Amino acid sequence: MSFDLVLFGGTGDLAWRKLLPALFQAFRHGTLPREGRIIGVGRDDLSHEQYRQLIQQRFEQVDLAKRPSPEEFSRFAELLQFQRMDLSRPEDYARLKDRLAQRNADQVVMYLATAPSLFTQACEQLKVAGLTTPSTRIVLEKPLGHDVASNREINETVRRAFSEQQIFRIDHYLGKPAVQNLFALRFGNSLFEPLWRRETIANIQVTIAEDLGVEKRGAFYDSTGALRDMVQNHALQLVCALAMEPPISADADAIRDEKLKVLRSLRPWTPELMAQHAIRGQYGPGTVGGEAVPGYRQEAGVSPESTTETFVALRTEVANWRWAGVPFYIRTGKRLAARDAHIVVNFRPAPHAIYNTPLGAANRLVIDLQPRDGLELHLLAQGQENRRHAHSLVPVHLDLDFDKRFGSERVGAYERLLLDVIDGRLNLFVRSDEQEAAWRWVEPLLDSWRGNENGLRAYAAGSWGPSAASAMIARDGFCWSEEQ
Ligand code: BG6
Repeated sequence: MSFDLVLFGGTGDLAWRKLLPALFQAFRHGTLPREGRIIGVGRDDLSHEQYRQLIQQRFEQVDLAKRPSPEEFSRFAELLQFQRMDLSRPEDYARLKDRLAQRNADQVVMYLATAPSLFTQACEQLKVAGLTTPSTRIVLEKPLGHDVASNREINETVRRAFSEQQIFRIDHYLGKPAVQNLFALRFGNSLFEPLWRRETIANIQVTIAEDLGVEKRGAFYDSTGALRDMVQNHALQLVCALAMEPPISADADAIRDEKLKVLRSLRPWTPELMAQHAIRGQYGPGTVGGEAVPGYRQEAGVSPESTTETFVALRTEVANWRWAGVPFYIRTGKRLAARDAHIVVNFRPAPHAIYNTPLGAANRLVIDLQPRDGLELHLLAQGQENRRHAHSLVPVHLDLDFDKRFGSERVGAYERLLLDVIDGRLNLFVRSDEQEAAWRWVEPLLDSWRGNENGLRAYAAGSWGPSAASAMIARDGFCWSEEQ
């Protein structure tokens, strides 16, 4: 099978850091079809050779498992081309069409890794130029809009040019091996399914903590915030994977139908719920990894009076038969104590205590997403420390480290998703109705937070966020995983 992958934003940050390295890894592993071209698109006036050299230089700075040798890179470079384009000029699309016609590849992938403000224009122009044939797929990076209305507008424009089967909306969390393992855990095994419900589960926590700040994206982030950047997409997709019913098959729509039901079951926000169950914070100066770092308002591109949240902690419920009354806690933030994404499923304690050990620390399943990818099942066991008393238990855990089990050079998130686009598998991509339901759920919070500081809590960089997040969960009698 031959393919042409047109990378709009081909000299942008995402292309350098994620997409081109992921394509290289797929090439190295022999999973990228050899009959292909990767056509970087940008506004610069670059020859193919200059583009290749730039990529080679950038590869020095990214985290590739093993540096490519000059020979290996030059074999990869044979796939690389560059096309100068101004996305507002119809004649530039005509030139792209000519280039694609040289090959007539079986699959053409248009990857829009550009500013989202260009999506609408690019799709309209691709259609006018006749570049939306059935063998073409379009990949859209997040964020797709900034609220329900803008999301719907983009989706409607894209759908005028492409059918839903041709549209690949990326949420790179779905490409992470840990998330596929979560699906495998739930739907490949029968062990947990009888326990996966309100009768046995006390609460579920989703944490996506980052130790990095806003890096070079201050201006973008300041108009976005953590709720749009992480909760509307990544965190809610994890909630879907945790709470969805078993799909009837592994077909993309069977999976997406079930995820959609979860999003539609999320308890809608009321002013009372927002006051009690939605915490937002913004980092001040602090220390991360032993180094002093500035506060958010001092970051380049950020307004000194910014009210943008860099931390969010929420409590919600999935209002359906399986989950009624079970709190789902979501927490994410920048400049937290560690880069640590994990899910904790806390089971209810034993109903009757015959041991004199507090049962708090056990009975939980931890799904680690990063930095390591693993599963920990925390239990209580008879300890040997106290030789006289048989009735004291100690916490122990079964530990499954997927990196050790499967090797650390696993298929990365973008590598997995890019291969799926080329192969036409939609399972790990988000459908427009899912996306809209997620925007609908976060929108009341966005509206109530916009342009005001009410309830915006400061936290020190390098901490676990504002203490109000701990107080929120403590009111239910629970605590966050690092406090257990
Ligand atoms: C992106 C956000 O979608 O996800 C970034 O825009 C964030 O702000 C990133 O840093 C986190 O991804 P990962 O894979 O590093 O957890």
